[in-house]
Amino acid sequence: MKTILTGIRANSVLTLGNYLGALLPMVRLANEHSKDSQINIFVPDLHSIISDVDGSLKENTIRTIKYYLAAGLEINDNVHIYRQSYVPAHSELCWMLDCVATMGETSRMIQFKEKSKGQESCNVGIFNYPILMAADILLYDAEYIPLGEDQFQHIELTRNIAIRFNHKYGDIFTIPAKTADQVKFMGVSDGIRIRDLLNPEKKMSKSTAAENSKIMLDDSPEKAAKKIMSATTDSLGKIKFDMWGQPGISNLMLIESLVTNVPLQDVIATWAGETRYGDLKKQVAASVSAMLTDFQAKLAGITDEQVYALLESGEKYANEVANRKLLAVQKAFGLR
Ligand code: TYM
Repeated sequence: MKTILTGIRANSVLTLGNYLGALLPMVRLANEHSKDSQINIFVPDLHSIISDVDGSLKENTIRTIKYYLAAGLEINDNVHIYRQSYVPAHSELCWMLDCVATMGETSRMIQFKEKSKGQESCNVGIFNYPILMAADILLYDAEYIPLGEDQFQHIELTRNIAIRFNHKYGDIFTIPAKTADQVKFMGVSDGIRIRDLLNPEKKMSKSTAAENSKIMLDDSPEKAAKKIMSATTDSLGKIKFDMWGQPGISNLMLIESLVTNVPLQDVIATWAGETRYGDLKKQVAASVSAMLTDFQAKLAGITDEQVYALLESGEKYANEVANRKLLAVQKAFGLR
């Protein structure tokens, strides 16, 4: 059975970018493949502490798991939900992979460069982040990892570490699929990057201060619609999908496609030759508010008890699988 795995940090309420880039693709893939694949959904809570956390990580974690259920995740025996810090093998394998990865390749990670900006005061966790991520993936022999485009470099790094390790110690890790194949598996034409609504050259991010730049999953449907209506576009006066030339308009078309589950090509065809940006914004605002209305109603009906029951069985499963793999790696190094 192949394994499909993903994780989303629970530092705060998630954005529409997290939802459309990773959470919804994972839910759709899980529902499609969970009869014949293992579906691992985990909260990387140890990854969260690279930034200051305010004591609400536990509650945020429970809420993030509820998001998957509210987005329609169907549960069966092949669906496993767990918290990273409840499976100690992640941290232990991370150390071992630290001894396989190189300073050169890890220093080239864009997220590290952006977050550290060359400062010596930056914590070592920010540097080590992708190695822990590699451990999260390799412990479970995951082949497909639905993620937003900003994380693709970390998948390539994971592949390189696994290939190097296997070459030296034997075929212990499954090599995750190349990012081009990940994209195909997700059924999208390109990696997903939802843009900042006010500044569409940048990705939508929860850490951007301007309220109207991002849609949060707890925004009221009306508030989200207003944010879409005030999104930055351009003055070219044609509705065309061109992420470089018209990022604002293209971002709205991409959001429309992902929210309604209509292929991007069909959305592009629907708007071909149209010129009125206001009409496109109204359509996208309506789609996003309908999505949020449904999502928030479902979220309100999910209890903490439901989540804790899933975590109990998920963490038992995760520890069994992860410890087996960890032992194989310990043996390879001659530690056991
Ligand atoms: P995090 O929490 O930073 O991001 C969670 C997911 O949301 C995606 N994402 C976006 N996608 C499209 N457009 C956006 N504007 C946007 N913003 C965020 C991210 O690409 C990501 O998929 N490092 C992971 C967490 C992690 C992980 C793992 C994932 C830790 N270990 C192992 C998979 C497998 C991350 O980026 O989290």
